Amino acid sequence: MILTGAGISAESGLKTFRDSDGLWEGYDVYDVATPEAWERNPALVQDFYNMRRKSVLEAKPNAAHYALTQLEDKYDVVIITQNVDDLHERAGSKNVIHLHGVITKSQSSINADLVYDIEGWELKMGETCELGSQLRPHVVWFGEAVPMIENAIQIASQADIFVIIGTSLAVYPAASLIDYVPYSSPKIIIDPNTAPVGGIHDLKIIRETAGTGVPKLVEELLI
Ligand code: OAD
Repeated sequence: MILTGAGISAESGLKTFRDSDGLWEGYDVYDVATPEAWERNPALVQDFYNMRRKSVLEAKPNAAHYALTQLEDKYDVVIITQNVDDLHERAGSKNVIHLHGVITKSQSSINADLVYDIEGWELKMGETCELGSQLRPHVVWFGEAVPMIENAIQIASQADIFVIIGTSLAVYPAASLIDYVPYSSPKIIIDPNTAPVGGIHDLKIIRETAGTGVPKLVEELLI
């Protein structure tokens, strides 16, 4: 099982959230990524995600995304990503679960099960779902449930190897997944600035960027 965060897409030119030049330096999360923000000022929220969708569409997968696809030659790989970009899929990974949604899709603002592909970068105010309600980005906002978490916990609890790449592990429930991994399974973190993680058995920390560290790890795992 591979758990990824914004750091894996940093070398594709997409900003992380909590690094010094990260997205949450320029925006207040409560203004753009909560249900209350959407109620208060949906156009502002829509604009924020339109800009991010534009960046995602312009970005390309990097060496780390591509290296992970090679693991599928030898392992049953599940990628659980907190990222709303689709760079894992574009690199060719077959089994990707998006914990926080995907920015290239929209959803009904009254029924989260109604999900649609977005053509291009812009989701406009006035575009509606089949029930007539405004379409919003298909992303999980702070304060909303994370529907895929039960599935992810199930997979974590059966993982033979658990690799974490480019996440500050600051956001729950994603950050708690490591607690479900079997005691005896190796756990590996690749992140140049990872905070100290205590109390985890068989944990190895590789302080490198994803673009350098992931291809090296994949090579080792394929031997
Ligand atoms: P963060 O911005 O919190 O953390 C990014 C991590 O990537 C940090 O630990 C960096 O050290 C690391 N990093 C930076 N450059 C890297 C590189 N080139 N290679 C590898 N690692 C690098 O992003 P996330 O942990 O993904 O949620 O954030 C989790 C969630 O918080 C996001 O999914 C988003 C956000 O608010 C929602 O929007 C619901």
